[in-house]
Amino acid sequence: MNALGWKDEYALGIPAVDLQHRRIFDCIAGMATTGLSQSAGAPAGCSVAQLADLLRQHFSLEEHMMRSFDYPELDAHVEQHRRFQAEVDHFGQTSPGLHGGVPHATIMAFQAWHCEHVGSSDRLYVEFFLGPRYKRAGGNSAST
Ligand SMILES: [Fe+2]
Ligand SMILES: [Fe+2]
Repeated sequence: MNALGWKDEYALGIPAVDLQHRRIFDCIAGMATTGLSQSAGAPAGCSVAQLADLLRQHFSLEEHMMRSFDYPELDAHVEQHRRFQAEVDHFGQTSPGLHGGVPHATIMAFQAWHCEHVGSSDRLYVEFFLGPRYKRAGGNSAST
């Protein structure tokens, strides 16, 4: 997997969330590979439609958890999800037939958004769910 993919430092300590984050990071990384491999005639790594589906499933899980915990920042967090989902959906709908793969700048923008969101907004709700135990464990060791 290339440098855009999952890194253990992204782990937040909730296994179901970490697994979905890993799949999203690796899908974005797969897009970068797709552009290269398609030019060599190899099968695609991950499409924008696949990323959009992974995001829909993931945002649904997070929003369900945040509602269950009465997370006070729910609305702002959901808004972040909606905007990014709309951006990815729009890109997928308006850019069919990407013969050379997804443009590098778009892949980098997707990766930057997800990296920032996981490291800031998602980390905040995990801290809220897990409380002081999470902070004492260093922020990514709550499951151990
Ligand atoms: Fe997330
Ligand atoms: Fe999120």
